[in-house]
Amino acid sequence: MESCAVLILAAGQGTRMRSSLAKVLHPLAGRPLLGHILHTVRQLLPERLVVVVGHQAERVQAAFPDEGILWVFQPEQLGTAHAVSCALPDLAGQQGELLILSGDTPLIELTMLKSLLQWHRQHKNGVTVVSTKLDNPAGYGRIVRDSAGLLQRIVEEKDASAVEKALTEVNSGIYCVDLLRLPHWLQQISANNAQREYYLPDLLALAVREKCAGVVFHEEALSLSGVNDRQQLAVLEKLLRDRLVAQWQSRGVTFIDPSSCWLASDVLIGQDTVIEPNVILGSETVIGEECWIGPFCEIRSSQIGSGCRIKGFCHLEGAVLDGNNEIGPYARLRPGTVLAETARVGNFCELKKAHIGEGSKINHLSYIGDTTMGRNVNVGAGTITCNYDGQHKHKTIIEDSVFIGSDTQLVAPVRIGERAVIGAGTTVTKEVPAEALAVSRTAQTHIAHWHKKRPQ
Ligand code: UD1
Ligand code: CA
Repeated sequence: MESCAVLILAAGQGTRMRSSLAKVLHPLAGRPLLGHILHTVRQLLPERLVVVVGHQAERVQAAFPDEGILWVFQPEQLGTAHAVSCALPDLAGQQGELLILSGDTPLIELTMLKSLLQWHRQHKNGVTVVSTKLDNPAGYGRIVRDSAGLLQRIVEEKDASAVEKALTEVNSGIYCVDLLRLPHWLQQISANNAQREYYLPDLLALAVREKCAGVVFHEEALSLSGVNDRQQLAVLEKLLRDRLVAQWQSRGVTFIDPSSCWLASDVLIGQDTVIEPNVILGSETVIGEECWIGPFCEIRSSQIGSGCRIKGFCHLEGAVLDGNNEIGPYARLRPGTVLAETARVGNFCELKKAHIGEGSKINHLSYIGDTTMGRNVNVGAGTITCNYDGQHKHKTIIEDSVFIGSDTQLVAPVRIGERAVIGAGTTVTKEVPAEALAVSRTAQTHIAHWHKKRPQ
């Protein structure tokens, strides 16, 4: 399909959100509203991609540092038609169609945009708008048709008569416009209305006069929903979650209770992975095949290789599991944790900046930080790497096949040579040579007949 130019309007504050954050930066499934639209329109490979910003312009731009966006500044938000006028200089020299979208309708689909373009081209329209039907059309512009059903104009809610307010066919805010005729129409739009704003929907009435306006009706209203307040944001969050779950189900992922899980839109999940109830999978997370994610786990910015079992109530952030690992329940893996294949971490263990070698086990109640651990190490219950002296962090190195007894402190910086054994209750403060036994506790003594000698 021939390409087009795309213009996204994102200058408004979003007053109804009641937020100090610009509306288009509010996240939905872990990605800003505007990010969803950019993600969709990029798939059209537009010849030019222009975004109009105004409110918190710098912050919005900074959120999308990727190349390929022409940013246009609208100093005052005088209305959607004014926003488009501000972008005209950046569209100069561009011919053909311009798709105009709002930054606050994040769930629009590529197929819908393609059929809009196709319809517009087939009918050789000057302007085509996408409409839908809503049971509750409050807040939207209404599509006004004549008795023969032909489009006349769009009226905004605040300017509508009681009869017009009862109309349920609404303007989606998505338009396809002939770029050559656009400037001439924009000049004719005035702010003579209830909101004293330049309304972009007024384009339709102008094009109707020139017999080149069209409407494409889109059945699936939810994907055209705009986010104007927090209730609408929550409705779309749920809708998108259902879409994402369905997408992963169709690729062979089981969700035991889909409605209790939440996943970011960029998460990837491998086939035959099973996800138990109440799981959160945050942005930048990749899960391999045949994994089992137990209930109440929260996993963010992490890579989970295939065949992993993550038992209930684990918390992972910035962790990498190479594959066939078993962790939890109640394990906390902080940024910089890397588990080589088959390494295991059990209950009530915290790991941070720790590389754990293949087959090593840290099964109970331990803190391992700033550590490099070799293969087949056994870490006993209650082992602590004392990595912080109050000012600096220090490293612990544990070589292959070391055995660490329970209730042990490893005061960093320190190295434990391969196959060394650390006796239970030991505080290690200096390097342990390979194959040695390190014990620092005092020898056990007995006082005979203590039972009788004890004061009663
Ligand atoms: C708009 C339409 C309405 C339609 C609805 C669909 C107008 C006048 N009304 O209403 O017919 O049913 O969308 O969702 O267009 N913006 C700017 N600069 C401005 C004003 C707005 O960039 O000066 C941007 C906003 O940031 C937003 C988009 O344009 O992303 C739409 O503006 P908004 O105020 O949300 O319009 P609605 O009241 O929803
Ligand atoms: Ca809106």
